[in-house]
Amino acid sequence: MKGKPPRALRRVYALEDFEPLARRRLPSPIFGYVAGAAETNASVRDNRAGFGEIGFLPRVGRDVSQRRLTCRVMGLDYDLPFGIAPMGASALTAYRGDLVMARAAREAGIPMVVSAASLIPLEEIVAENPDVWYQAYLPQHPADIMALLDRVAASGIDTLVVTLDSAVVPSRENNLRSGYRTPIRPDLRLFWQGATHPRWALGTFVRTFVQHGAPHFENATAGRGAPLLSRQAVRDFSGREFLNWELLAEVRRKWQGRLVLKGILHPDDVARARALGAQGVILSNHGGRQLDGAVAPLRALSAAVERAGDMAVMLDGGVLRGTDILKAMALGASFAFVGRPMNYAASIAGQAGVAHAIDLLKVQLRADLGMLGLVSLEALGPEVLDLGGFRPLAFAG
Ligand SMILES: Cc1cc2nc3c(=O)[nH]c(=O)nc-3n(C[C@H](O)[C@H](O)[C@H](O)COP(=O)(O)O)c2cc1C
Repeated sequence: MKGKPPRALRRVYALEDFEPLARRRLPSPIFGYVAGAAETNASVRDNRAGFGEIGFLPRVGRDVSQRRLTCRVMGLDYDLPFGIAPMGASALTAYRGDLVMARAAREAGIPMVVSAASLIPLEEIVAENPDVWYQAYLPQHPADIMALLDRVAASGIDTLVVTLDSAVVPSRENNLRSGYRTPIRPDLRLFWQGATHPRWALGTFVRTFVQHGAPHFENATAGRGAPLLSRQAVRDFSGREFLNWELLAEVRRKWQGRLVLKGILHPDDVARARALGAQGVILSNHGGRQLDGAVAPLRALSAAVERAGDMAVMLDGGVLRGTDILKAMALGASFAFVGRPMNYAASIAGQAGVAHAIDLLKVQLRADLGMLGLVSLEALGPEVLDLGGFRPLAFAG
């Protein structure tokens, strides 16, 4: 998608600039749902803090005119070393949210992960971008899991991400404070939010209902899920207390494609993922939305890499800048994922917004790699880092 950037993006110079714009664009309960984290926000803060503790030790006088940002992960080639993290209900914050992210990802040559809690049928998303990955919140019963995996495979998707950090529902106090309640009721409060946020109300909410009908949770199971606004909708996809490694072994036996386990932090769990036959893990504390105080993935990275063998170790949480991605890769990460900023970008300017976010990271990565004195991502290693102020996972057992 080329052409003049929308007005809304003129003052977006870095990913941080999307958040205040999204805060204004979206009704506060919905902005709060995206921005929010669990309890005291300790993990979401620490996700950023970790990056700030690492410095660079650049080299000079090297010819860096031939730089490239391509990378290979789990046998897949990408133009850039990051993708779009799975986010539920993205079509509530942006018109056709999942589709605009999928299209922008395709144009940029990066992966986008379709959430189990998304509102557009995954087959429609695959039609726009055949290379998306699918993230599952596993249903409880093996027969339902197998039916879901059949559907995902039939759609042509070959990378399955299973999220494991959401076994239990966390405290949603911050959602309640910001006024986000489920079910979303078509009441006076919603009417007021719509009236005071007309661009979202008309451009996303009403437009979605008029053009596509009531949004449903389309992709959690083999069939269509409940409508977003209904009382019976399973909106909260955490609460999968039955999850265990035996169930994951069944998934591994059934799923022929690449398997990635998301939401792992402990090095022993990395080792289990490897023993299971997973191709990759995404170290994650769910953007601080599950266990408050769960260690930042960046801190758990080196210990994870030690146990991963040839599995890809990816991470998400607080990634906002090219330098963040370079720091993670220098510590051994194969790839990174970006969540909230992509959601904000879509809510402000749809596909153009997401493309702009991707482009900002690309420009930063290109410049930063050169300033480090390197021409490729494969050349990154711990020797480019000053780790003096960095506190990695102090693993006790
Ligand atoms: C609004 C929102 C919805 C999310 N929904 C899901 C989901 O459905 N499945 C999942 O595995 N992770 C989900 N996540 C977590 C993200 O995949 C990712 O781990 C996290 O956002 C990364 O942190 P960041 O937002 O700081 O980049 C969600 C995050 C947000 C902000």
